[in-house]
Amino acid sequence: MDKFIVDGPTPLVGSIPVSGSKNAALPLMAAALLTDRPSVIRNIPSLNDIHTLSNVIRVTGTAVAFDRQAHILRVDASGLTDAIAPYEQVRKMRASFYMLGALLGRCGEARVSLPGGCAWGPRPVNLHMEGLKALGAVIEMDKGYVVAHAPGGRLKGGRFVMEPSSVGATVNMLLGAVKADGRTVIGNAAMEPDVVQLCEAMNRMGARISGHGTPEIVIDGVDELDGMDFANAPDRIETGTFMIAAAMHPDGDLLITNTDPSDLGSFTDTFRQVGAQVDVHGTDIRVRAPRHIRPVSVKTGIYPGFPTDLQAQWATMMTGAYGASEVTDTIYFDRFSYVPELVRLGADLQVVENTVFIKGPSALQGASVMSTDLRASVSLVMAAMVAQGSTDVLRVYHLDRGYEALETKLNAVGARIRRVTQE
Ligand code: EPZ
Repeated sequence: MDKFIVDGPTPLVGSIPVSGSKNAALPLMAAALLTDRPSVIRNIPSLNDIHTLSNVIRVTGTAVAFDRQAHILRVDASGLTDAIAPYEQVRKMRASFYMLGALLGRCGEARVSLPGGCAWGPRPVNLHMEGLKALGAVIEMDKGYVVAHAPGGRLKGGRFVMEPSSVGATVNMLLGAVKADGRTVIGNAAMEPDVVQLCEAMNRMGARISGHGTPEIVIDGVDELDGMDFANAPDRIETGTFMIAAAMHPDGDLLITNTDPSDLGSFTDTFRQVGAQVDVHGTDIRVRAPRHIRPVSVKTGIYPGFPTDLQAQWATMMTGAYGASEVTDTIYFDRFSYVPELVRLGADLQVVENTVFIKGPSALQGASVMSTDLRASVSLVMAAMVAQGSTDVLRVYHLDRGYEALETKLNAVGARIRRVTQE
């Protein structure tokens, strides 16, 4: 397992590019299975999660080719013969569960392993299954697998209001509904840009979807879909991560390129409250750090609210703020495994229920810390970059799931990070 050795403190100064969005790419890959015509998906990041889903898709007999340099993924599902997604692959990444909607939509049947556990809290899939049942799917459980089929071989349009709003369940329902017989209405649908993009891509394939980006999405089923040639959005969470990292050292002055500022929802205005200067020019965002970070409390919510995927990064920045703040996660109530690791670096914060209470500023000192999940890991790297001395961040394989060439990008703007491969 690899670790990072990070020497701090170092400000981030210069220009850093954002890669394609992981969470927006995965649904596009699943949508490519809905047709036997080839698809080309551009701006796909070279990440372990992309490789994992590619391998899951290949098991069905679908051809997947990824040009890492060009960031272009080609999917040809004309050879799709096995409507299966096996445990050995699905357990590596929850988003593999999108195979349920994709295979039901394409073949009228599916045998998909239930996703495994997760680094934090329960992450149920009840809404995914209730939503597809609303489209007529018959779903049974068999030895940890979801076994589903559409009577007569085709799902039927239906109506489903989800509570709570769920990105993944909205994606799975969309994948099942676009070729169903009749009209589907999804109530309390997710409005994340990842979902909006999926709807736009499938409409280009010939689907008939409207209302995406609002809480009610309407889909009129069609008989056939064409392939897609689609450019994936920039990663909004990577963008927010770099913005926060830039603000954490008073000399930070970072130009973040290849972004889509409109995907950030309410984050940018909240971020300005810490005192950072933010200038948006087209797809570039320049962040100049404040002399002193102002304490700003946040509560996560569904889009366009504060994203839970930036919760750990925000709390990490708040350890250096001049005053007390609190961060509440209303989406995942126990996504705080990074907290004891920050305490090891000298931060003053504690968790009560689904809120972390932070006192700042703390002068962080380098130490060894353990990554536990994707967003916790990047937060530890961010803390290490402003800590005094050397920090070992262990198990950085978590990072490799969701941040493309992270140490290369950060070292190019002043960080001092060495990746060490440990046996
Ligand atoms: C997506 O996960 C993202 N993953 C997550 O990003 C992100 O944290 C999450 O959305 C919330 O924004 C991908 O897009 C691949 P949800 P997802 O279903 O779809 C509850 C990262 O770091 N729920 O919107 O699994 C659930 O418990 C990852 O990149 C049910 O109750 O999230 C949660 O409280 C981590 N039943 C809430 O809904 C269900 O059937 C939102 O979860 C499904 C979800």
